[in-house]
Parts: sequence; C-alpha cells; structure tokens
Amino acid sequence: MDIDGVEKLMRPGLAAMRGYDPVEPIDVLERELGRRIIKLDGNENPYLSSPRAREVLARFPYYHIYPDPLQRNLRQALSGYTGFPEESIVCGNGSDDLIDLVLRLFVRPGEEVLNCPPTFGMYPFTVSVCGGTLVDVPRVADFDLDIDGLRSAVTERTRVIFIASPNNPTGGTVTRNEVLELLRAGHVVAVDEAYYEFGESSVAALVPDNPNLIVLRTFSKWAGLAGLRVGYALCHERIAAYLLKIKQPYNVNVAGEAAAIASLQDVEYLRGNVEKLKRERDRLFAQLSQLSWMKPFPSQANFLLCRVAEKDGAGTTTAAKRLRDGLRKRGILVRFYESPGLRDCLRISAGLPEDTDALLAALEEVWNEA
Ligand SMILES: Cc1ncc(COP(=O)(O)O)c(C=O)c1O
Repeated sequence: MDIDGVEKLMRPGLAAMRGYDPVEPIDVLERELGRRIIKLDGNENPYLSSPRAREVLARFPYYHIYPDPLQRNLRQALSGYTGFPEESIVCGNGSDDLIDLVLRLFVRPGEEVLNCPPTFGMYPFTVSVCGGTLVDVPRVADFDLDIDGLRSAVTERTRVIFIASPNNPTGGTVTRNEVLELLRAGHVVAVDEAYYEFGESSVAALVPDNPNLIVLRTFSKWAGLAGLRVGYALCHERIAAYLLKIKQPYNVNVAGEAAAIASLQDVEYLRGNVEKLKRERDRLFAQLSQLSWMKPFPSQANFLLCRVAEKDGAGTTTAAKRLRDGLRKRGILVRFYESPGLRDCLRISAGLPEDTDALLAALEEVWNEA
C-alpha cells in the first residue's frame, strides 16, 4: 500500500483540519535572533516556579516509578487549596488535557460545541480532533459574551459550551448570572479559569448545585509550571469519576505531580508573584493608554489585549503585525493573531518591570519607523 492509500484510511476531516498555532520555543528563537529574548507572547510566569517545587524535583527519588493513576496525593492537596472534596477533582496533563477529556466524554461525531471567539484556540482544535461540530457565537462589542446568541444557538445536538473566564485573549470575565442562564439551557457548561488567580472572580461556587458545570484550572500561569503540564477540573463527583475512568492512566507525570503539591505548600510565595504581575499588568495598561494609537482592554488575567490604530498609507499589513515584527527583531515577543477580528490587536503578557520598560521603549521606536 502506498502512503496515499494509507491517508485515505484516516478519519476524513483530520487531514484538512487547521493545526494549533503554538508559540515558538525560546531556545530556538534565541539561537535564531542571537540575543536574549523578552518573552511576552505565552502568558507564562517570568518569576519561575516556587523554589520549594524546584527543591523537591531536584531530590525526587521516584522518577523510575509510574505515577498514581488516581492522583490521590495531588487531589488531596488540591482539596485543601480549593475547598472541594477530592471526589470532585480530576487532574490533567495541563488543562488542555481536561478540555480534551470533557469533549471525549460528552461529544460524539457530529454533535455540537458552542464556542465564543475570539477565545482560546484549543477549543476549536480539540473539537475538530474529536469529530465534533464547532458552532461559533462571536463575542459582541468590547468582547462581551452574546448570551442571547448562545441561547438561540442551542439545538438538540448541543453538548458543551466552552467559556474562558478570564478569556484569552480578551481578558474579561463571565458573570455568575450569565453562567446561571447558560446552565439553564440544559447542556454542559465548561468554564475555563486558567487565569483565576489573577482576577477576582470564579464560578466554582456554583458547581455543587449545578452538575452540568465543569470548572477548569491550571498550575501553568500562577504557579509557573507551564512546562510541567498540570491542570485540574472541579465538577460533580460522578462526572469526576467518569473523567478519571477515561483519562490516560498516567496523564499527570510524577514530576508534575510533585511540583504541583510543593507549589500548594508555597502558596504565599506564589501569590506574591501573582501580585507583582498584576501590578505590572496595571502599569502596562496605564502606560499603553497614554499612546494615542494603542487601546488596551481591561484584563483580569496576566496579559493585555491591545487594539492598534492603522497608519495612513501603510500598505496592507496591519499596524499590529508590523509592530509584532519590529518588536521581534529587537528580541521582544508579543502575540499577533491572523484570525478575523483580531488582526489589528496584539496580546502582551505581563512580565518583569524591566521587560515592561524595554517593551514601552521599543514600541515607540517601532511605531515611529513602521
Ligand atoms: C484559557 C486557557 N485555558 C487553558 C490554557 C492551557 O493551560 P494548560 O497549560 O494548563 O494546558 C491556556 C493557556 O494559554 C488558556 O489561555
């Protein structure tokens, strides 16, 4: 059989599907640009992980042993952190893994998942991989959710609605009442609170009374463990039992588990870093607001989305893209999106104070020459 024949055996749709647009690895870029990179494109934590987590990993004696498929120690530690019983907690290889598990649990090929763009690209990606049908209900002015639009998009084939709160890349949160309205529509509402620690709001308190609500969280952002991949879901204990049953047995590896537990013993230190990043986000917001050609949107996360004005007679590339390219040449990475509605925007992660200073200086320079 030749490779064309093999390709014909694949599930139709997967060959044509659009892959996920990942950010570039820092070491590859540092080699390419030959300089230190200021990385403000991945919403990572520049304060690194907790020293306690790094110490535990350096001395960890069991790398040769498989992890606990039932994640008992980590779920117990998370129970202390969240106030949820262990039976209502399931951990994943990052919250990306939980997005995948939720869709695999509820969505059969052809069934529908509601998505509210602009939002996190893993929802459309994962819906495609599991053969579901994505139904986009775009956000309205200033990126608020279109609750009426969502209600009227519900059909008998709807299974899940995904809402990121705070939303990536727009930074706003969903309200408790909006979630309650969506829960009433009778399908699963997955609220992705990856940036929960940077904002003031959560809908997790609604989980005990609403078995169709699943809240997702992660250690990637506040705890600086993006590279170790640990996320978790808070949900009804029966849903948690199904998620535990269908997940890969060793989805959270021993290093991720040990580092996450150590982080939960170092919450005060990590909260200090979160506060520093919130201050830097707010300082960046204030500084960008001074520029007549930048409009930052308020954010409850560790990043800001900014709309960039167009310059007269500057060609077809958007000013946002030219800024991204100019900053990149100076070793500063920010996120630009080709997707409709975002081509005039940049997403900038909160960084160290010196990163903000370097960014602000470079932005003016690039704008003046672009
Ligand atoms: C809204 C949202 N959810 C989930 C994730 C992924 O989190 P994790 O690293 O736990 O897979 C991200 C990462 O950028 C995100 O923005």
